[in-house]
Amino acid sequence: MSDARTALDEQDAPAPVAVPASTVTAVPDGPAGPATAVDVRGVSKVFTTKAGTVTALDDVHLRIAAGEFVSLIGPSGCGKSTLLRLVADLDEPSSGEIEVFGRSPRVAREAQDYGIAFQQAGLLPWRTVAANVELPLELHGVGRRERAARAADLLALVGLTDFARHFPHQLSGGMQQRVAIARSLAERPSLLLMDEPFGALDEMTRERMQTELVRLCAETGAAVVFVTHSIPEAVFLSQRVVVMSPRPGRITQVVPVDLARTAERTDDLREDAAFFAAVTAVREALHGGTPATARGVDVR
Ligand SMILES: Nc1ncnc2c1ncn2[C@@H]1O[C@H](COP(=O)(O)OP(=O)(O)OP(=O)(O)O)[C@@H](O)[C@H]1O
Ligand SMILES: [Mg+2]
Repeated sequence: MSDARTALDEQDAPAPVAVPASTVTAVPDGPAGPATAVDVRGVSKVFTTKAGTVTALDDVHLRIAAGEFVSLIGPSGCGKSTLLRLVADLDEPSSGEIEVFGRSPRVAREAQDYGIAFQQAGLLPWRTVAANVELPLELHGVGRRERAARAADLLALVGLTDFARHFPHQLSGGMQQRVAIARSLAERPSLLLMDEPFGALDEMTRERMQTELVRLCAETGAAVVFVTHSIPEAVFLSQRVVVMSPRPGRITQVVPVDLARTAERTDDLREDAAFFAAVTAVREALHGGTPATARGVDVR
């Protein structure tokens, strides 16, 4: 099977190897199996505005396994958020198909398969931290006692137990992001969609949050689609890094990251030779086009 999951199966390869886009696009059409979290088949998205049409995505194929952590990276405007929004059922493809655990995004959303965390924490200012985390559960009719217990667990998980009764404005930006991540995990989603969730954080907080996210995902077994502009962040977090090019947005390369198992990714990894090798592989994949295509990507 020469689909994108092949790359996952090749995790034991000795060094990160950029997979040519042709092997990625050769995804056989067919029903997604139970081990497939996201199946994007030949998806294009054209926006029509008064100023004309923009092809945000063109013939994108991507299959993400259950429990897999995949990052999307590419220059500003290449369609990363658009792809995430299509998977999240916040918009519809112009052509092509998307399945989430073998169902349409709409059905998957209704079945509460998703947890979503975007760049802005998006907390409700009049609710306490705990009440924000409980919100999705409340909307789905979970009882008060169960909600409170779940929120307490999640706040412990993100290290904010002492702030449960605070309001969002009493927290730092990084703490608010952690609340948003706790909220996105409230319904034990099997798929987390994250669009630059750490974009506004300082480097230290960002690295701590990355380590925390790796731990959370190992604990919950959720598949993650993570949009970032940072190559080291993508490499640290992911089993595969999907590199996109702009106008029209396409997947140009998929870089398997051959680092420790997700559960064993600790800060030491950031100084490991394999980490630097993977960073280089992603950087080279990004620069595969003209230098201008790497604009807007943080290569530190
Ligand atoms: N609702 C919309 N209407 C019209 N055009 C849109 C809309 N949403 C996105 N686009 C266009 O689609 C293209 C891809 O946008 P998208 O937001 O997906 O990029 P991105 O890769 O997430 O960029 P960034 O890294 O800056 O967040 C851009 O050219 C953008 O102008
Ligand atoms: Mg975006």
